[in-house]
Amino acid sequence: MNKKTIKDIDIKGKKVLVRCDFNVPYDENRVITDNRRIVAALPTIQYLLDNNCKVILCSHLGRPKGEVKPEFSLDIVAKELSKLLGKEVVLAKDVVGPDAKRLAENLQEGEVMLLENVRYEAGEEKNDEALSKEFASLAEIYVNDAFGTAHRAHSSTTGVAAFLPAVSGFLIEKELNFLGTALENPERPFMAILGGKKVSDKIGVIKALLEKVDVLMIGGAMAYTFFKSMGYEVGNSICELDKLDLAKELMEEAKAKGVKFMLPVDTKIGKEFDPNTESKTVKYTEIPTDWEGYDIGQETIDLYCKELQNAKTVVWNGPLGLFEFDQFAIGTNRIAEALADVDAIKIIGGGDSAAAVEKAGLAEKFTHISTGGGASLEFLEGKKLPGIEALQDK
Ligand code: 3PG
Repeated sequence: MNKKTIKDIDIKGKKVLVRCDFNVPYDENRVITDNRRIVAALPTIQYLLDNNCKVILCSHLGRPKGEVKPEFSLDIVAKELSKLLGKEVVLAKDVVGPDAKRLAENLQEGEVMLLENVRYEAGEEKNDEALSKEFASLAEIYVNDAFGTAHRAHSSTTGVAAFLPAVSGFLIEKELNFLGTALENPERPFMAILGGKKVSDKIGVIKALLEKVDVLMIGGAMAYTFFKSMGYEVGNSICELDKLDLAKELMEEAKAKGVKFMLPVDTKIGKEFDPNTESKTVKYTEIPTDWEGYDIGQETIDLYCKELQNAKTVVWNGPLGLFEFDQFAIGTNRIAEALADVDAIKIIGGGDSAAAVEKAGLAEKFTHISTGGGASLEFLEGKKLPGIEALQDK
């Protein structure tokens, strides 16, 4: 990585503002259901504490859109962090208001505080300069470790970096090392598995990966747009009729580049969108008009698993079926299980595929599971991430 990290500057005893991505899922009782993003921020926080820094953490949670809404409070994160760090993390009542300022002013070496949800401030998502200056006024150094939010050009991810020495934390460094190395210098064969609902969401990443991979495996609902573009009936399956030409072009591009472009050969279909709906598996050419495709079928699972045995690098983004419903999670789970045993560099590009691997209890069998959904997708597309661009070069 060509950006400075906290190891490249004199940080001892300094007051440091750290932007983390604590945007974690939680249930209706406000219980955090997956704390991975908080755990992933610990190495940076611990390093700062070991260096006697005064640590001011900040993050967004959800999308309160510039309004103070208690259901988006970071109180649940402060509690979880206190538990994980084994020391009290005080939550400010506001973001850059009187309480945050008072707490930041009085913060002692080795202490940690957390600002309230940065998206309570209307200026945050507008990358408002006045707000960026307010953030900067709290500390002497700015550290960005919010990889999951690095694709957003907001005040706390980008704007503030103009007003303080700005470097990266260890999580951003780690994410870029894994994702970057996989893309720039992959051990071959290099295979990508792409799932998800829409071709339109993945055009950028499909195009970028066609330049790099040897094999591209498609799953998820976007497969039905490809089937339709080949002239087949897809019933009620999700299908983007305005993307049929694009789907054809992508397949032609793969052929021209010598990339093996694999589509499902069978699909598990259901009568209706219901966890217990009647289901069956059919060939991709035989989807009845009143059924809807929800998963890859067994023949496809076998085919993809066999291909993956030869991989030396695998990047996976997006579940292969409607994995929230058990009977349509089989494709995603079987591929995760098979991949767990493949001797290769295996990178999960965050979001739902990361959740699926976690849910299957296979996380430790993968080389790297990104904490960024949208951010890792944009990185795989070859886009520049503003939160990283704003940091000081080495
Ligand atoms: C994410 O969960 O992908 C990040 O925290 C960014 O959240 P956002 O999509 O609301 O900007």
